[in-house]
Amino acid sequence: MKRSVWLFAVFVLMGCGMFVVQRGRGDIRGRARKAFITYQQLKAEGWPETVYLFGQNPLSDAGIALGRKLFYDESLSADGKVSCGSCHNSYTAFAHVDHKLSHGVYDREGRRNAPALFNLAWSQSFMWDGAITTLDNQSLSPIASHTEMDLSLPAFLERVQRDTTYQTMYRHAFPGEPMSLPRLMQAIAQFELTFISQESRYDSMRRHQIAFTPQEQKGYELYKLYCADCHKEPLFRSDAFESNGLFPNIQFPDWGRVEITRNPKDSGLFRVPSLRNVEVTYPYMHDGRFATLSQVLKHYSLRTLKIQGVYQPKPIVLSSNDRVDLLAFLLTLTDRQFVQVKELQDPRGFQK
Ligand code: HEC
Ligand code: HEC
Repeated sequence: MKRSVWLFAVFVLMGCGMFVVQRGRGDIRGRARKAFITYQQLKAEGWPETVYLFGQNPLSDAGIALGRKLFYDESLSADGKVSCGSCHNSYTAFAHVDHKLSHGVYDREGRRNAPALFNLAWSQSFMWDGAITTLDNQSLSPIASHTEMDLSLPAFLERVQRDTTYQTMYRHAFPGEPMSLPRLMQAIAQFELTFISQESRYDSMRRHQIAFTPQEQKGYELYKLYCADCHKEPLFRSDAFESNGLFPNIQFPDWGRVEITRNPKDSGLFRVPSLRNVEVTYPYMHDGRFATLSQVLKHYSLRTLKIQGVYQPKPIVLSSNDRVDLLAFLLTLTDRQFVQVKELQDPRGFQK
């Protein structure tokens, strides 16, 4: 009798312990679990190790939901009209199409093209010049930026703290913790870490589910010959800073990486962006100077580029037929599922 009472007490205590662990981890049945499984799968398929430190910010459904609401909330900007989602649209792989340079509060024009957002867990640095080195801090920059959302960080925190919906969501995401800016930023990062693009035609080819057409295959060979040293498979990007031979933009001078390192060698270098989803992320380059992919391919033709400071032995030569083939290959990098995932869209069910 005594023993069973004792056992019963142990079970109750264990139950409480599990409950605490479960709450601490948050709910991971839905989006968080799906993302977790996808990351595992990609690793098994030979994708590189992720860079993001998930241990410091484990994904939970409640954290992702909070991040999603913050991402689409225009009231967190100076004029109440601009959210992250205004410049990063899910239907275009989170790029801002038709805008060369970004547009923020009061229609203020930024100086760079808003990049697409996906597969961010593999990035060592962020922004065209690598100014930011962790995803967790990245959001501070657009919120406080004069040309983006232009809200002081204390004002941002206060607006979120006042809102009862946020209070409840925060309690689920980070139980028992007072609301803090770093945690809110981490919630946005959690949402962004569910932007995983890995279901393009190229991915199906890699998984031997389909075969490329002869034209796509020719384009793939050209890509491997001329583009792959910078835009590396399977992410089609890299953390290196390079020049792809763009003539400096006189109207909006931007010297890229040198602004961060102050090393003259880095003048005119920009981080190599991903070619995934380029079909939908126009315009192209840090200043959005090219409206179409055929302009981009013309730019590359007959060009000798340096990679990590070393001139390549041969120039890139692309005949007009080659350009058609290469374009066919680039279109295999579009992930039609990714741009339609409901859970990545504005939770209010409409988009500006
Ligand atoms: C006014 C338009 C605008 C708004 C609003 C905006 N962004 Fe951006 N975003 C940009 C531009 C432009 C860049 C590139 C900046 C640079 O390179 O200096 C960028 C870069 C980024 C990057 C880096 C991507 C990479 O691969 O380097 C992330 C992540 C990001 N934004 C997330 C956000 C989040 C989260 C918010 C809301 C808190 C937000 N953005 C609000 C325009 C915007
Ligand atoms: C020397 C490294 C290098 C090589 C080789 C290279 N690129 Fe790039 N690419 C870059 C860099 C750096 C950028 C960003 C430049 C900027 O915005 O200033 C870029 C940008 C792009 C963009 C625009 C992406 C966007 O989101 O705006 C496309 C498309 C592109 N490259 C395609 C190609 C193709 C196709 C090839 C092969 C024919 C190629 N690149 C070869 C370094 C390279």
